[in-house]
Amino acid sequence: MNIYTEIILDHYQNPRNFGEIKNPTSVSEASNSVCGDKLKIFILVENKKVKDIKFSGVGCAISIASASLITDYLKGKSISQLKKINKDFIIKMLGINLGVNRIKCAVLVGEAISKLKV
Ligand code: FES
Repeated sequence: MNIYTEIILDHYQNPRNFGEIKNPTSVSEASNSVCGDKLKIFILVENKKVKDIKFSGVGCAISIASASLITDYLKGKSISQLKKINKDFIIKMLGINLGVNRIKCAVLVGEAISKLKV
């Protein structure tokens, strides 16, 4: 197993930031129409920074690991950094070769983040 696969497996088995925020400033959702998996993102923004971010939902290893990695990355970051999250950024962060179908899993979190009202 290479280091990236191990990181993905760890984030899938022990997802960081899994849960809900009680008083979020925005909430959004995205689903994969092929498999029906769904992610919900909760964010708390203060002074144009991500004070807290969590996610909930059901997904495959790649979608959950991706949500865990990206939410971890975003904590404490500025809103302008949050707006830079896109497909290329997510794929680079995962660090593995993904087929077309798996890319949809990986970017599910990005789709939900892009819908946040921040
Ligand atoms: Fe559903 Fe990956 S198989 S998001």
